Amino acid sequence: MTQAPDSSNATLSQDELKAMVGRAALQFVVPGEIVGVGSGSTVNKFIDVLASMKDQIKGAVSSSVASTQRLQALGIAVFDSNVVERLSVYIDGADEIDHQGNMIKGGGAALTREKIVAAQSARFVCIVDESKLVPTLGKFPLPVEVIPMAVQRITRQFAALGGSASVRLADGRPLVTDNGQFILDVAGLQIGDPLAFESEVSQWPGVVTVGVFAFQKAQVCLLATPAGVRTMNFAGVPNTQRDV
Ligand code: 5RP
Repeated sequence: MTQAPDSSNATLSQDELKAMVGRAALQFVVPGEIVGVGSGSTVNKFIDVLASMKDQIKGAVSSSVASTQRLQALGIAVFDSNVVERLSVYIDGADEIDHQGNMIKGGGAALTREKIVAAQSARFVCIVDESKLVPTLGKFPLPVEVIPMAVQRITRQFAALGGSASVRLADGRPLVTDNGQFILDVAGLQIGDPLAFESEVSQWPGVVTVGVFAFQKAQVCLLATPAGVRTMNFAGVPNTQRDV
């Protein structure tokens, strides 16, 4: 289903596409409840319009320090995930999404908290522009949050799978996540079986979180295109590791 935009869109920028899909996500926010909120530039657009509903919701559970600060600056209460048992919806972006709703996430280094909030949510609504839709995951270098002392060992394990891992830097030094760990970005992978891949890599010593979201895949993808927002439903394939 494609929801037509307001005017002619042949020249919509990526930023405008993100704003369009951020607005479209409001339809999934349940009045009276707490909403799960992800991280990134697309989610920032969603947070900005969520402010228009702030009196209709209890607040949010956030997946990053950056999103928490943005929510609070707009007057939206942010709850600790430990005091909220269940969320009916989690809204987040992705770096890639395939046609089954599996995703690569972590371009903003928030993948661990994103996976935690996704796991406590009944429904993951992924908001992306059409450049993120791929037949097979892996063109975007896979983010993996790791314990620093395991960097070399995990790099060798990815090399054995044909991947080339490098430590993400910020200002010339290893980027340190909200959880005090490092990010490896792994290029050269073709992830044909996301569930098996996530299952295997998650067990490697020193891996905190792998940025493949197959166990916590999307149920819905709102895909921003120049012709409007297309809704893709993946509800037919169940998640295997969701709390609720
Ligand atoms: C952050 C993420 C983001 O959802 C992902 O990087 C997409 O970001 P953007 O909306 O800025 O393209 O996983 O860790």
